[in-house]
Amino acid sequence: MCGIVAYLGNREASPVLIKGLQRLEYRGYDSAGIAVIEDSLEVYKKKGKVKELEDLIQKENLTGTIGIGHTRWATHGEPNDVNAHPHYSSNKKLALIHNGIIENYAAIKKDLISKGHEFQSETDSEVFIHFVEDIQKHNECTLEEAVRIALTKVVGAYAIVIISQDNPNQLIAARKGSPLVIGIGANNEEFFLASDATPIIEYTKDVVYLNDEEIAIINRNGNISIKNIEDIAQNPYIQTLDMELEAIEKGGYDYFMLKEIFEQPRSVADCMRGRLVSNKDHAALGGIRKHVDDLVNANRIIIVACGTSWHAGLVAEYVIEELTRTPVEVEYASEFRYRNPIINKGDVLLAISQSGETADTLAAIEMAKAKGAVILGICNVVGSSIARASDEGAYTHAGPEIGVASTKAFTAQLTVLNILALMLARHKKTLSDNQFKELTEEMESIPGKIQEVLDLNGQIEEISKLYKDAKNFLYLGRGYNFPVALEGALKLKEISYIHAEGYPAAEMKHGPIALIDKEMPVVVIATRDSSYDKIVSNIQEVKARKGKVIAIVTKGDALIPKMVDHVIEVPSCHETIMPLISVIPLQLLSFHIAVMRGCNVDQPRNLAKSVTVE
Ligand code: AGP
Ligand code: GLU
Repeated sequence: MCGIVAYLGNREASPVLIKGLQRLEYRGYDSAGIAVIEDSLEVYKKKGKVKELEDLIQKENLTGTIGIGHTRWATHGEPNDVNAHPHYSSNKKLALIHNGIIENYAAIKKDLISKGHEFQSETDSEVFIHFVEDIQKHNECTLEEAVRIALTKVVGAYAIVIISQDNPNQLIAARKGSPLVIGIGANNEEFFLASDATPIIEYTKDVVYLNDEEIAIINRNGNISIKNIEDIAQNPYIQTLDMELEAIEKGGYDYFMLKEIFEQPRSVADCMRGRLVSNKDHAALGGIRKHVDDLVNANRIIIVACGTSWHAGLVAEYVIEELTRTPVEVEYASEFRYRNPIINKGDVLLAISQSGETADTLAAIEMAKAKGAVILGICNVVGSSIARASDEGAYTHAGPEIGVASTKAFTAQLTVLNILALMLARHKKTLSDNQFKELTEEMESIPGKIQEVLDLNGQIEEISKLYKDAKNFLYLGRGYNFPVALEGALKLKEISYIHAEGYPAAEMKHGPIALIDKEMPVVVIATRDSSYDKIVSNIQEVKARKGKVIAIVTKGDALIPKMVDHVIEVPSCHETIMPLISVIPLQLLSFHIAVMRGCNVDQPRNLAKSVTVE
């Protein structure tokens, strides 16, 4: 969940670490800290944002060319100065940063306390560095060997980096279940470690992604060695990052979220490029080749995901079943992994994840793999754990998404899923040539139509002003727009802290209708589709109870504007593709309301961008 950064080279470490933490802050931000070694190993840490840490160290004249940094998303122990990372060993000669959870920390801690160790924090992480210290002392071994032994004994997920005052020329890092990337500077003269590539790209594009249960030992003389926790040497595979610096900067916008919302015409077009060409009758995903037959012959497609990615999965269920007649089930990864689901040979599991690191989704993949399912991953982050754990897959190519609230990743997921459905329909011959042509042409028109909705930003901002103080919101949709209602509600609650619920509009009369009064804003996604007449009736039901209705309608709709309080008109398009358009006003509505309420839109409270703990 958190961000890890480390540096070893010729530069001063602390500015590299602070800049890296700023880039990683979207991953977790309840406290931050760094440790650097010059003559001694010094730790500075502070509750709050990286800015607080920066202010703290400004007074110090920090020097040293090796260091580690961390921005925390607390799991064990409240966010405060003491629980912030890095953590010292008892003799203060070792320092550690850790991302993840050491599940058996309590037993190890008890044992260490009986041996005289004293702990400063409530974290599981501090236990690990004391454990390493203890092993090194009793086994009289090197630090790297002590780390390796410790890792064979811990249960849980981790990405760690350790430095030692006794050896200011070495970084030791390891991972299991939490990402860690090693950037290699020119001539192996400097090394940058981080939870993702964003702090690295301004220095180097040559990177090694550490695999699970691998330990990297990085020395100032340019020597980097990787072994697994069984002590077997591994060959580092150096890759070149395909990412530009401007992709991770705000580029003139005040907020990453707004930038990412406005990037969608481009990100959707990027996502379709080469994969969908209407005048060539072409719909294919280059990353899924070997398993096309498995998809075509699948008895069932099971989609697993969390949060917004799960909403994309729900849309895909409707689209894939409609276009291909293959049965689809959509599951929360966190539920799926802990029940005993029936997975038969011939089932295909589709995992959807922006970050590619979500712990529950990753665990669901491992479980389905063990039961013989084919695994296809749809991820945004290239080289991420889910992308690597899948048999094949397709990247969404939305570019880095920094805002915690997912926007452009969602529309890119919908784009890939629509292409997948069209590809499958082509193979299964469940669509006529004309239907296929119509849908591919519609898909190609989407970037322009998204732009038309973005042009309504001013109008949506005005509507937002009227409802920014609401206590509750209801979002209603039917058919393809039902998951969009869920997504609209999630966007609003996560960044503005207004309670919001998404519902299939027809379900309203089974309960939520009791909530409706003149104070209740109800966002109804009522574009022209096969359930249009039904949703018109649902709007009447809300109005009869004096609810305030904000309706998302198809341009030119003459009926609904007469019934409701506000209309936002979106361009018409085929109903299977409409969610790509109808979600845009909901993203903007939540953004403006959150800004007007003074919320930190890019870093909402309690959340983190990638959820690498269960
Ligand atoms: C989206 O706005 C959320 N912040 C969150 O629900 C997110 O979609 C979820 O954590 C899944 O993440 P993933 O796509 O990286 O797996
Ligand atoms: N479990 C550790 C803690 O609570 C690390 C959390 C994180 O990944 O930020 O401090």
